[in-house]
Amino acid sequence: MARQPLRMRFRSLLQCVLVVVACIASGTLECGGIVPTVAERRGAQLYTRMCVVCHAADGRGYAADQAPALGNQNFLASVSDEFLRNAIANGRTGSTMSAWSRGHGGPLSNEDIETLVGSLHAWRERPRVVLDEGPLIGDAGRGAGVFARECARCHGPEGTGGPFIHIGNVDLLSTASNGFLRYATREGRTGTAMAGFASSLGNGAIDDVVALMRTWQTHLASVPRPVPPKPPPIPLGPVPLNPRGPEPMGFHATPATTPADVIKAQLDRRAKMAVLDARAPSDYLNEHIAGAVSVPFYDPDPYVAQLPRDAWLVCYCACPHAESGTLAQKLAANGFTKVTVLDEGLGVWKSRKYATHTGVDP
Ligand code: HEC
Ligand code: HEC
Repeated sequence: MARQPLRMRFRSLLQCVLVVVACIASGTLECGGIVPTVAERRGAQLYTRMCVVCHAADGRGYAADQAPALGNQNFLASVSDEFLRNAIANGRTGSTMSAWSRGHGGPLSNEDIETLVGSLHAWRERPRVVLDEGPLIGDAGRGAGVFARECARCHGPEGTGGPFIHIGNVDLLSTASNGFLRYATREGRTGTAMAGFASSLGNGAIDDVVALMRTWQTHLASVPRPVPPKPPPIPLGPVPLNPRGPEPMGFHATPATTPADVIKAQLDRRAKMAVLDARAPSDYLNEHIAGAVSVPFYDPDPYVAQLPRDAWLVCYCACPHAESGTLAQKLAANGFTKVTVLDEGLGVWKSRKYATHTGVDP
């Protein structure tokens, strides 16, 4: 291969250096790619640590627990920052979506939440749409018929308790504008189970349904979340339970899981074990298994040194095992061998009327 003259080689080297300098100076571009800003890196890091377990990489959704597709283009084009901020900070009562703000005992500062809102919008590939915020002309009575026929099988009879997102949730409705609800119902969410109803129902019937949804906003009161006495992390309570008790029977080491009934029987037998609540501390404060301590899945490190290595550690969440499974994996990676996951999660524990507590104490 013929060698380039020295002067040409020098010139191309110089060009390359100039491009690199310009890229670094602008803070956005690198030769061949985009360099994330500090906020973008922080947002991506938070999302990966705390949200990906349910909402999946790139916001595809449905990794666990029917968590919706936050990266969906119809969603991002229509959602306001205020809506996102509220959902992240306050969570969604009655679902596994935690309140992530420090004010509720979660791990995120207001600045973190803003950063996450920015990260979600970074997935938006087209401009925001202008929403139809015209006055609602629907009739809730007519809407009830349409809803029962077209929507209830996915969203539940009054927008909760169905297999998909609880659109009857009061926290959602109080931050969703009529335009947002109309747009979601008219256009749907491409690539998810939510089809658009613009052509099958028409705008009139859609307004009837939105009018119906507005009636739920008043009769489903939001359950106030307890305020933490101090910002998290919550100090680890006494572990293990029953330090002089017998070894539990019938526990299966992670990745296998152990049924709730087996765990309850071993607690009743006063067996030696620790019960770890893997959810955000805000959920722990709200309600946790009696005797459990808070060890959030996204950051068990502050607790690892204090956890016993010779006692079984039972991880649980509400998902029923997305967050608890993540915690169990992290503990196993830290060399703990007696780790199991409560198979059915807190929901089944509660439905069996097994004991739970509220507040910071186990
Ligand atoms: C086949 C199941 C299915 C049916 C039927 C259905 N939906 Fe949905 N709906 C979904 C899913 C799934 C989502 C969330 C999609 C996502 O991940 O973004 C959704 C989202 C929504 C949202 C947006 C909520 C939010 O905060 O993002 C609204 C509003 C909504 N649906 C209203 C309706 C109405 C009104 C009807 C009936 C006319 C209806 N849906 C019928 C599955 C369904
Ligand atoms: C344990 C699973 C889980 C985790 C972890 C989780 N979410 Fe959610 N999220 C959900 C579920 C489930 C819903 C829907 C709640 C409902 O049906 O009312 C939701 C709803 C939302 C919504 C509202 C979407 C809409 O269309 O109305 C936003 C925004 C959101 N989550 C953001 C986040 C962010 C940001 C994080 C990380 C800090 C996160 N979530 C972590 C399960 C989760």
